[in-house]
Amino acid sequence: MALAVAGKVAAEMATKDLLRFITCGSVDDGKSTLIGRLLHDSKLIFDDQLSALVRDSERHGTVEDDIDFALLVDGLEAEREQGITIDVAYRFFATARRSFIVADTPGHEQYTRNMATGASNADLAIILVDARKGVLVQTRRHSLICSLLGIRHVVLAVNKMDLVGYDQGTFDRIVAEYLPFGVQLGFKSIVPLPISARFGDNVIRAGNTPWYTGPSLLDYLEQVEVEGEAFDQPFRFPVQWVNRPNLDFRGYAGTVVSGTIGPGDPVVVASSGKTSRIRELLTYEGPQTSARAGDAITITLTDEVDIARGDLLVTPQSRPEVSDQFAAHVIWMSDHDLVPGRSYLARIGTRTTAVTVTGIKYKVDVNTREHLATHTLGLNDIGVCNLATGMPVAFDPYRENRRTGSFIIIDRFTNHTVGAGMIDFGLRRGTNLHWQPLLIGKAERSAIKRQRAAIVWFTGLSGSGKSTIANIVEQRLHAMGHHTMLLDGDNVRHGLNRDLGFTEADRVENIRRSGEVAKLMTEAGLIVLCSFISPYAAERIAVRNLVGEGEFVEVFVDTPLEECMRRDSKGLYAKARAGKIKNFTGFDAPYEAPETPEIHLRTLEAPAEAMADMVIGELTRRQIISPH
Ligand code: ADX
Repeated sequence: MALAVAGKVAAEMATKDLLRFITCGSVDDGKSTLIGRLLHDSKLIFDDQLSALVRDSERHGTVEDDIDFALLVDGLEAEREQGITIDVAYRFFATARRSFIVADTPGHEQYTRNMATGASNADLAIILVDARKGVLVQTRRHSLICSLLGIRHVVLAVNKMDLVGYDQGTFDRIVAEYLPFGVQLGFKSIVPLPISARFGDNVIRAGNTPWYTGPSLLDYLEQVEVEGEAFDQPFRFPVQWVNRPNLDFRGYAGTVVSGTIGPGDPVVVASSGKTSRIRELLTYEGPQTSARAGDAITITLTDEVDIARGDLLVTPQSRPEVSDQFAAHVIWMSDHDLVPGRSYLARIGTRTTAVTVTGIKYKVDVNTREHLATHTLGLNDIGVCNLATGMPVAFDPYRENRRTGSFIIIDRFTNHTVGAGMIDFGLRRGTNLHWQPLLIGKAERSAIKRQRAAIVWFTGLSGSGKSTIANIVEQRLHAMGHHTMLLDGDNVRHGLNRDLGFTEADRVENIRRSGEVAKLMTEAGLIVLCSFISPYAAERIAVRNLVGEGEFVEVFVDTPLEECMRRDSKGLYAKARAGKIKNFTGFDAPYEAPETPEIHLRTLEAPAEAMADMVIGELTRRQIISPH
């Protein structure tokens, strides 16, 4: 129902010029008051049909106070699909001249994520400053994010002018402080306005400021020219799903994110370079003669081409870059610092792929815009990073196309959006490194050994018995004539990983390298037993994804911490307790237990030999080895 209402509103708004804007500032700056006043005072000329719609949705009881306009605003919509509540309220109002959607986001520092969501498809930002406080760090941060997210027009609304006696000097000082900063950020227009949201000065009508001769805020919002740039940009269409109801029909459904297209026009699948032409553009109202940015359509082509969800259809006249490595501005939105080397998920357009930050070049000081060296990004930090994706992705640099140049970063374990990225450019080394084809592969190498190659990954606390059990398993396999290798954390840390300690970043790298080595060994056809605490689920998932389906067997060696401490075979728990070892797993460093391991060994229930038998049994059941 909400969808149907939104659909009608969308149709309504398409006929009227629409301005999307965001208000940046905190409650203390008078943001709610300002939005309230805009909504309230313009309601007088609230569009008839829209009020009918509101009645409609009230009658059907679908929406409580508001129509669900959020559906119209896609922004970082992956959030919605993930079922995470972002605190952005999209409010709608209209005057005789224009329709408006305002993204209303909470203004506290920690809500950068909400702000970025709201800003991601706004044409204009109102940056609110309290006349008594002037330009704050938050003012600069919000401006920087707006600029990064491609907003080109800014209103600097100096609010609470009533509390400074409508003093022109105060206003001028704030403007003088903001302008040089704002100009550096590359905004096309910065319009300073002295207002009092509380009393309405210069919001809808002229205020108590004879020295100010410019337009009121609403006048300005009604007139400001924001270029409908999405229509003039090259055609881009991320395929959301392939509609194949029967063998005779194959349609690609999605939303045009930029450009226009018509039947007969040539198109290219960006990543494969395959070409075809548009046969039909379909909506539920039937075939259309053209489609443009914002239109949801199903495309059929004149040729059978291989196209899947996540592919990007583009015009051959202007093709995007395709690379698996690029440099981007990243806004970090999580309390948990970014860990370079960790495998996260990136969603770019309709494509979801693994992504790793391979290096942080610098972070930006929000006040001075200076570049600061750093190893990580914390909450609200903005940095320039190099990233590598699990598969090549098609993109445009963000400054050329906001929709195909942005992505979000998702934590694999929590499924939360932890960052937003704006791509600066592709890295050439991404395209100049190729794979060397090999004649003999994993299948041949393992077949000759009469086994299936696999990684058997033992995870658990220090002292849980991982190495003990892994050793017995290897002995048994060896006795059966299998070809194996055992990688043990303690040993690998003496060689390959001797430069790594036990910080989160070092453990991530420890597992990444060990996983890559294990993968190479599976390519040699071996059954590779790995014994690492590997406390983070994200890295275990990343290793799992390095090998084929069914080739990663996770063994959770589940021994309670108290028992590990009681055994304390290496005396490390005693040291940790005495404060002599930092970041000790189970003490002051986390252990994320596997939720669905292939094998769950509760070690208190039986001796190590029995545990090893269970592993052998499971490997047989999974046909990695054959029964003896
Ligand atoms: S992991 O966390 O990166 O997977 P790994 O399995 O390689 O760890 O190494 C763990 C071994 O290092 C432990 O069995 C223990 O002997 C030793 N060690 C030394 N310091 C620590 C620590 N702070 N936390 C856990 N293990 C430690």
